Amino acid sequence: MTRLVDAIGGWRLGTRLFVAQAIVLLAIVASAGLTAALIGPPLFHAHLIDTNYPPDSPQIFHIERAYADASLISLTVGLLVALAASLGISWYLTRRIGRPVELLTQAAARLSRGDYDARVTVQGGGPELSTLGDTFNTMADRLNDVEATRRRLLADLAHEMRTPIATLNAHLEGVADGVLAWDDNTRAIVEQQVERLTRLARDLEEVSRAEEGRVELQTSLQPLTDLVEPVIRQTRNAYDRKGVTLTAAVDDLPVRADPQRFAQILGNLLNNALRHTPQGGRVDVTSTTTPDTVVISVTDTGQGMSEEQLAHIFERFYRGDSARESDRGGSGIGLTIAKALAEAHGGSLTATSAGEGQGSTLRLTLPRGLHQPGPGR
Ligand SMILES: Nc1ncnc2c1ncn2[C@@H]1O[C@H](COP(=O)(O)OP(=O)(O)OP(=O)(O)O)[C@@H](O)[C@H]1O
Ligand SMILES: [Mg+2]
Repeated sequence: MTRLVDAIGGWRLGTRLFVAQAIVLLAIVASAGLTAALIGPPLFHAHLIDTNYPPDSPQIFHIERAYADASLISLTVGLLVALAASLGISWYLTRRIGRPVELLTQAAARLSRGDYDARVTVQGGGPELSTLGDTFNTMADRLNDVEATRRRLLADLAHEMRTPIATLNAHLEGVADGVLAWDDNTRAIVEQQVERLTRLARDLEEVSRAEEGRVELQTSLQPLTDLVEPVIRQTRNAYDRKGVTLTAAVDDLPVRADPQRFAQILGNLLNNALRHTPQGGRVDVTSTTTPDTVVISVTDTGQGMSEEQLAHIFERFYRGDSARESDRGGSGIGLTIAKALAEAHGGSLTATSAGEGQGSTLRLTLPRGLHQPGPGR
């Protein structure tokens, strides 16, 4: 049997259930006893008198004694049986409810100590406790994910910062020791690394803001072509330099969007497509429109992506090929920001690829926002 009083003070569930039932029982017995004592004897006496026994006869005395004894015995036995039954019920309920509650308490305590693997299996406690157990497990899963993301983020961040900082250190020390001359070349390298750190800080700030929904969108209704064309103009040079064909053919329909943020999303997709498409390849920007949404697709004939890559490209710091990409300065945040910005517009960003070497398509879906003032925050 469980202890009556819990270690941290206060009565245990079983004790409380038993005491509550005992109080109810005592109240029933008290009221039944009182009724039997006040109403029963005069009524019984009146009926006996009706049987023509003389009121002071010994028979009447004995019969009334028998009545009183029988009432007392039946009430006492009834009370004892009911107490035993309530003790049994309390014990049973405590086992059914108390055990899952105890398991949940232990798991919550483990979780509060930072053990994110704590889970519970709640059985036999009824649907409410089962749901509580499931909810607890979902919460623990989430916390586990958040903790994993936090650790990875810090590790990735440290990793991202290490290379530029080491390069800066080496060059500045070289200059200080007179091994390196402070010429245009050294200055360019130092500036490049400072720029890389600055961009990292800006991207991180941007991605946090976008993911937490703190982006200020300044949306307005304008033709899709007006949104797309400036971005194409800006990136065309880089495409020409690499020898990749860039085409854009989008519907000339009104869409509500923040032009700067739109340019950021599309610019990012075009830069990625260019980076991953070899000379001689092509990148096409097209659109499909429904009454409520517009889908802008950026399709390239480049190196494509594996299933594994597709599953991760929207995660912070994910780079399909870390070694090669890091040489080119990408930090793997571009698509994370682009997706968060698309979602801030009430839209989405998805990617498909038939596999490595088969090209990729990135699809930006935006609500056209014709009838509302826009999702701007
Ligand atoms: N068009 C594409 N073709 C093939 N792979 C792509 C394409 N676009 C993105 N990827 C893959 O997705 C990864 C993540 O892209 P993302 O834009 O987030 O980061 P990045 O381009 O590496 O760096 P950043 O954009 O921060 O400079 C890339 O490293 C690349 O492996
Ligand atoms: Mg990118």
